[in-house]
Amino acid sequence: MKTIAIVYYSGTGNTELLADAVREGVQRTGAGAKKIGAGLFGSDMLESYDVIAFGCPASGAETLEEDTFEPMFETLLPHLGGKRIALFGSYGWGDGEWMRHWEQRVREAGAILVTPSVISMDNPDDSALQAARELGAALSS
Ligand SMILES: Cc1cc2nc3c(=O)[nH]c(=O)nc-3n(C[C@H](O)[C@H](O)[C@H](O)COP(=O)(O)O)c2cc1C
Repeated sequence: MKTIAIVYYSGTGNTELLADAVREGVQRTGAGAKKIGAGLFGSDMLESYDVIAFGCPASGAETLEEDTFEPMFETLLPHLGGKRIALFGSYGWGDGEWMRHWEQRVREAGAILVTPSVISMDNPDDSALQAARELGAALSS
């Protein structure tokens, strides 16, 4: 069985709701996933997981959250070549530009996006939660 992690940051809880739905989706396949706050994850932990879903809201001006997630993620980037990952997160007033930048960065690092990213405006609605569950299910397949 695959070892799966969900590594996320959430300031006001919206991305965390998506993270919970991702975990639910994994669990529905009979697998398990460890949910880890971004501040507790580091590059030395990458090898422990076959696949990792990263969650982070849009912040700054269409960037990743700058104080916790971005510094952590920057240390991971050089080690993401060939790694199977997925991305998700919540945004507010933009059009998802932060996610397009993020996808480009991980592709340039050589990571493999195993399933389309999930983005949700503000508090995720039912369809966003369902998409996050499907992302979770795709992690274990
Ligand atoms: C400091 C700050 C910067 C933000 N920058 C953006 C942005 O550039 N684009 C956008 O669409 N939303 C932006 N937002 C909105 C958040 O992405 C949105 O509120 C999101 O739902 C927060 O997710 P969270 O509850 O997981 O923290 C920003 C919010 C804050 C507090």
